[in-house]
Amino acid sequence: MKLNIIYNGDCIEILSGAIEENSIDLIFADPPYNLSGNALKWIGNKTGGDWNMVNENWDKIPDVEYLRFTENWIKGCYKVLKKSGSIYVASSYHNLAEIIMALKQLKFKINNIITWYKTNAMPNMTKRVFTHSTEFVVWAVKGPGWTFNYEIAKEINPEKQKDGKIKQMRDLWEMPLVQGKERVRSIDGKALHPTQKPEEMLKRIILTCSNEGDTILDPFMGSGTTAIVAQRFGRKWIGIEKEKKYVEIAEKRLGIKR
Ligand SMILES: C[S@@+](CC[C@H](N)C(=O)[O-])C[C@H]1O[C@@H](n2cnc3c(N)ncnc32)[C@H](O)[C@@H]1O
Repeated sequence: MKLNIIYNGDCIEILSGAIEENSIDLIFADPPYNLSGNALKWIGNKTGGDWNMVNENWDKIPDVEYLRFTENWIKGCYKVLKKSGSIYVASSYHNLAEIIMALKQLKFKINNIITWYKTNAMPNMTKRVFTHSTEFVVWAVKGPGWTFNYEIAKEINPEKQKDGKIKQMRDLWEMPLVQGKERVRSIDGKALHPTQKPEEMLKRIILTCSNEGDTILDPFMGSGTTAIVAQRFGRKWIGIEKEKKYVEIAEKRLGIKR
């Protein structure tokens, strides 16, 4: 099986063909949340620059199809994951229900639903609901024997006890949406991927739920965040991404020359 490469194609097809069964130690999946559909913008917002809601064609799936799509790609992940493997699935309130339903149908055991508190969340423009400032990462396992590096989780936890000692990591992760130098941009400063995940999130997942030399799969690779962090910490990786332009962006970020 090829490692450290990005497959350009549909993850449901590639999971059922190119990836060996029971071969993957850890999966991080950041699927389309299915929240695009309006093009809300707030240009000239004084507190943090322009805001643009995610509005991508790959993120617009009719609701009835979305559950089927979720079931199919999670089924593909189940097949390639080792018995002791873990899957992390990123979501928002838009698609959390479908993800949990699909995981439960396959008898995955849900270990945690981590809440990501986005410290620089987009302001509430409609003023008709509480300001959304959270996303979720569902951690599920196929069976017993999963990897959880408890001591490492304590060591890398930025929160400390009152006396400065290391502390157990909780299921509430506070971190900003990616900005500054970490954001992958074009030379004119535009963000090259609308939903780039923080490297800190992947660092926590990879260091706690895998070991050096393990293989990590990301079926929705986007700008390549999972691969960048996996590589940094001595893990092997496989990415899948449908859009060629994002494959090229991720390969450039990873220093891969074709
Ligand atoms: C939410 S983004 C992932 C962002 C990524 N975590 C990052 O840090 O850049 C989802 C990605 O999945 C891709 N995608 C959507 N449907 C797909 C499919 N069926 N198979 C593979 N990739 C798909 C989209 O093009 C998009 O880049």
